[in-house]
Amino acid sequence: MSRIATAVHVVATDGPAGLGGATMTAVASVTDAPPTLLICLNHGSTANALIKANGVFCVSVLPAEARALAEIFSGRTGLHGRERFTAGVWSPLVTGAPALDGARVAIDCHVSGVSEVGTHSVIFGAVAAVRTGADGPALAYLDRAFASLA
Ligand SMILES: Cc1cc2nc3c(=O)[nH]c(=O)nc-3n(C[C@H](O)[C@H](O)[C@H](O)COP(=O)(O)O)c2cc1C
Repeated sequence: MSRIATAVHVVATDGPAGLGGATMTAVASVTDAPPTLLICLNHGSTANALIKANGVFCVSVLPAEARALAEIFSGRTGLHGRERFTAGVWSPLVTGAPALDGARVAIDCHVSGVSEVGTHSVIFGAVAAVRTGADGPALAYLDRAFASLA
């Protein structure tokens, strides 16, 4: 999978179960009728149980300058839970899940289905709102390294 160039996202949730988020590449569109995407999230990620319990998540598609944020939400810097949100500026759209100000696009979702496949949950999101950000280079991930995609 490391041979596949991907976009980089922070998927975040908030609600009764609490605030959390993870850096993710496994995000894909499913259909536009109804607007639906999916994320593939490891059972070991703290965000997994939070997203299922809260029933909402927001996908923030990262710009190239958000590399440090991607490191933080991957857990590599030792920050956990709500501590991760001290980096960046976050504001909810309609579900209450945090959307990153400065994201290339933020896609706010209600969980519409979950399928367990081995180590991961495939979580489907019904799109509730979209906030389009500025143009500019995207953060990409290839061969286990970050890159800027103009
Ligand atoms: C570039 C990058 C992409 C990642 N993509 C995914 C992914 O698609 N799915 C996933 O389950 N974990 C992915 N991870 C790992 C999670 O970010 C990491 O396990 C999680 O944030 C750990 O959070 P926790 O400490 O709250 O459990 C990725 C990590 C990096 C650095």
